[in-house]
Order: sequence, then C-alpha cells, then structure tokens
Amino acid sequence: MSEKTLCIIKPRAVKKGLTGKIIDNIIENKFKILAIKKTLIQKSTAEKFYAIHKDKFFYNDLIEFMTSGPCVIIVLEKVNAVENFRKIIGDTDSAKAKENTIRNKFGLNNRANAVHGSDSEKNFKKEFAFFFTNDDIIEV
Ligand code: CMP
Repeated sequence: MSEKTLCIIKPRAVKKGLTGKIIDNIIENKFKILAIKKTLIQKSTAEKFYAIHKDKFFYNDLIEFMTSGPCVIIVLEKVNAVENFRKIIGDTDSAKAKENTIRNKFGLNNRANAVHGSDSEKNFKKEFAFFFTNDDIIEV
C-alpha cells in the first residue's frame, strides 16, 4: 500500500552540497516527492522532534548538530515507504551502512549520517506535523 515517510537531509550533507545527489538517489529508487523545504530547525523544535532520545548520551550532541545549519526536509511516497526508505538509507552509523546506501555514500558516522528517515507510519505523522500541514502536500 502507498505510504508516506519523512526524509531530513542533515546539516553536514546540505553544507557539503550533497542535496542534489541524495535527491537523485531517492528518485532513482522510485520515491515520489510530495513536499520539500529547506529550513534551519529551531533548537526547541529539534528537542521535541528527538524527545524520544532525551535520555541518551548523544542527545545534546544530536540537537547541536541538527541545528548547526539548514536541513532539507522531504515528504516521500511509495509502496511501504517507511521500510523501503530505511532500506535505501542503511544502518544509522554511516561507517557501518552497506555499500551503496545513502548513509554509506554521503554520511560520515553515527551523528553525521546524511539523512533521517521515519521509523514507522505513526512516527511519520508526528514528524510531518513539525514541518508541514496537509496543504503543503501536492499529490499529482
Ligand atoms: P536519526 O535517524 O536522525 O534518528 C536519531 C539520531 O540519533 C540518528 O539518526 C543518529 O544520527 C543519532 N545518533 C545515534 N547514535 C548516535 C551517537 N552515538 N552519537 C551521535 N548521534 C547518534
């Protein structure tokens, strides 16, 4: 069934000019772009977005990184989009991600791993609401 997922191209990848290459890769994998924006995520937003990781040792580092420069945030659609997107991005740690995955090709490590992908449809809906409204979605 057709499903949506949220991709965030993270600050290091945006700064390094990798946005186009990452989007090419996503389109080659037959995802449809429904909405896209470049934005500097506010600290308060990042803290809420990543609240689930609040007790982890890397939380402060993660918030600092995600607010260190603009991100490109994309709503994607495909059959089983959540699972299929996680497959093409690879392991959270870029150093361990399989060859040819987005995190392997464009990321560096656990923190600077090029992209975020929603881990469930339920979380997609929560994440979507941080950055978009339904009026931003173009279904054609
Ligand atoms: P993301 O998919 O955005 O969701 C949670 C993020 O936590 C994850 O990608 C990683 O970038 C980040 N993360 C996980 N482990 C570590 C770590 N050891 N150090 C820094 N960041 C981490």
